[in-house]
Parts: sequence; structure tokens; C-alpha cells
Amino acid sequence: MIKISPSILAADFRKLGQQVEMVELAGADMLHIDVMDGHFVPNITMGPGIIESLRPYSNLPFDVHLMVQEPDRFVKPFVKAGADILTVHVEASCHIHRTISIIKEFGIKAGVALNPATSEDSLKYILDDIDMILVMSVNPGFGGQKFIPKTLEKLRRVKEMVGDRPIDIEVDGGINLHNIYDITKAGANVIVAGVAIFHANDVPDMIKSFRESAAL
Ligand code: DX5
Ligand code: ZN
Repeated sequence: MIKISPSILAADFRKLGQQVEMVELAGADMLHIDVMDGHFVPNITMGPGIIESLRPYSNLPFDVHLMVQEPDRFVKPFVKAGADILTVHVEASCHIHRTISIIKEFGIKAGVALNPATSEDSLKYILDDIDMILVMSVNPGFGGQKFIPKTLEKLRRVKEMVGDRPIDIEVDGGINLHNIYDITKAGANVIVAGVAIFHANDVPDMIKSFRESAAL
């Protein structure tokens, strides 16, 4: 069974609280929250204050994707704001093992994200320490980009490398009803979707269609 994590980057920011309630009612499993610092990626989005203010609107696990340089500095504020899973980029931390340890010390789940050009080999020695691998299928920074096909090959390798460890494999960027079958067949079980979900005419129906179109 796949898990669907709508990305609020594509939500209507004028009514973010209602949009968060709406996707929960529509059947989402998690809520994907994109944090960008204008340094690791060429865009700025939201900080812990916004996440804290959204927390009362939802019981969904908050799946916080930190696209920030030197993420160690921000672990505590995002945990306090209500993150349930904190995902950091392997490219953004010189000492990713330490970063993961800091996250785990707070008792929440730790994820590690890979940019499209980053090899899964960078995770080889931390596989027993992480709860999720986020395979980026676009270059991070913006919603509404096109899915990079090479991601499928990487997903298959990640799936093989993970073996029977209890690690979620998440994919993020350009996912829609046309490619979700191949993505899930390649090994992903957590699907992030921004535009495809928040811009759908009928959001509950879109989430249902995502599940029906998946290979798992
Ligand atoms: C991109 C973000 C994604 C983005 C995905 O940097 O990490 O989460 O919101 O958006 P879509 O599904 O619209 O490509
Ligand atoms: Zn994301």
C-alpha cells in the first residue's frame, strides 16, 4: 500500500489551514512540507513558525523536507514546531551521520534526500540509521517541474540496496497519474505530489486515482 504525501507548496497560501484540513479529509496519509532557504536551493518558502501554526489543523504526520544548507542548525526548531519526519539532503550536510543522530535524539523519524545527480552509494553506510530515503525526481527548489526519467533506475537500485530494512522510499517531483505506476513498480512507497493534487478539480478523487494507478 502506498502512502500519499501532498506537498503544500502547491496549496493556496491564502487559506493554508483549510487546505491542510482538506487534503486530510480527502485521504492523504502524510503532509509534505517543503522548507527552502534561498541558499541550498534558489527559492525561499516557510520556516518553523508556519509549521507550528498549521499543526492544530491536522493529525497527519508532518513530513518536513529541509532544503537548507547545514541542516543541523534547524533540527530543534522544526521538531518543536511539530515535524514527525525530518528529511535532510545528503548534499547539504558535511557530516550526515551526525545530522541523523541529532534528529533521532529528538525521537522522530529521520529521512535523507538525494538530488537527481547524487548516487545512492552515499547512503551505503547509514542505511541502518535512517527511516526514509527521499529520491528527488526533479532538481529541488520549485513545484510543477517535469519528472526526470533516470529516477526510475535510481529507485530500483535504492530498493535493492534497502533490502528488507524497514525504510520508506519516497519520491518527490513531477509525479502524476501517468507516471505513478512506473514509480511505484520501481520501488517507491511514499509519493509526494504538489500540483497534481492541490490543482486537481476533485482532490479526493485524485488521491483515490493515485492509489488505483499505483503498482503496490
Ligand atoms: C521541490 C519540492 C517538491 C514539490 C513537488 O523542490 O521538494 O515537494 O513541491 O511538486 P510537484 O508535485 O508539483 O512537482
Ligand atoms: Zn519536497
